[in-house]
Amino acid sequence: MKNFIENLPKAELHLHIEGSFEPELMFKIAQRNNIKIKYKSIEEIREAYQFDCLQDFLDIYYQGAGVLITEQDFYDLTYSYLEKCAVQNVRHTEIMFDPQTHTERGIAFKTVINGISKACTAAKKELGVSSLLIMSYLRHLSEADAFKTLEQSLPYKHLIAAVGLDSSEKGNPPSKFKKVFEASIKEGYIPLAHAGEEGSSEYIWEALDLLKIKRIDHGNNCLQDDKLIQEIIKRDIALTVCPLSNTALQVVHDLKNHPLKKMMDLGLKTTINSDDPAYFGGQVNQNYIEIQEALNLSKQDLYDLAKNSFQYSLLDDKTIQFYLDELEVYYTKNK
Ligand code: HPA
Ligand code: ZN
Repeated sequence: MKNFIENLPKAELHLHIEGSFEPELMFKIAQRNNIKIKYKSIEEIREAYQFDCLQDFLDIYYQGAGVLITEQDFYDLTYSYLEKCAVQNVRHTEIMFDPQTHTERGIAFKTVINGISKACTAAKKELGVSSLLIMSYLRHLSEADAFKTLEQSLPYKHLIAAVGLDSSEKGNPPSKFKKVFEASIKEGYIPLAHAGEEGSSEYIWEALDLLKIKRIDHGNNCLQDDKLIQEIIKRDIALTVCPLSNTALQVVHDLKNHPLKKMMDLGLKTTINSDDPAYFGGQVNQNYIEIQEALNLSKQDLYDLAKNSFQYSLLDDKTIQFYLDELEVYYTKNK
């Protein structure tokens, strides 16, 4: 099974580039920028990664991102993640980035987007990994602040496919961002959002009806509401599920009780993703491996998950078909 998963062609649809920041690279970049970090060693950093909830994690995640200063830093961070994609047979990835985490610290939007997008272009050529970018608004900040970010993004619109919504969910419902999502859609961005990770099913309804989202990040709490489940199926909207994130943030207490299989059996379209791999104990293949073991998923289940990852990507139909054909050949040979 492990071998089957490692060689399975797949896409990753839920990944925060700031969450891919491995301690080794964090130390290197901090040193290069003459920034002191409060940990003495890589081991000490890893020991600090014990979280009780989303907010607990976010506090550490924003601290880590604080050492990123130059375009080269953003390039190195992104390229390092894309190299991991290449060795995991991730053919395509849709990368979220949080501009406000950086502009709030005085880093120019241009520095962030240029570093990330140049790494994506290089990785397509050098590693054969395709990618697109999702600009995520931080929901703990105001809608006015999100509007400012939208404005800053416009000169780089050709480099960004979609907008997302992340950070502290509870107390920051999708309705808070209705207007900025409307404006983002008008600019041609595809709307996506985290919903129902810690927030209730009501937040998922709002994300669908008010923000008009095309994909739900996490979405676990849709299981609280049968009508919502039917609506998500009817609208043919996929959930980007992140198993190791869910256990790391205590959204699910034991992988053996993870609702992924239940979601699949209900007819929900699900995909497997790493979310913040440097913090949650594994890249995307590790997520596949551990959830397969915990839920005893079959090769057919794994194939369905990989198929969804391409089918519910934001790629054009022709490119999706190209990847699906490759997956089909692989599955026929290896099932
Ligand atoms: N949830 C919300 N915001 C985030 C996450 C997450 O899992 N990761 C990075 N920002
Ligand atoms: Zn996320």
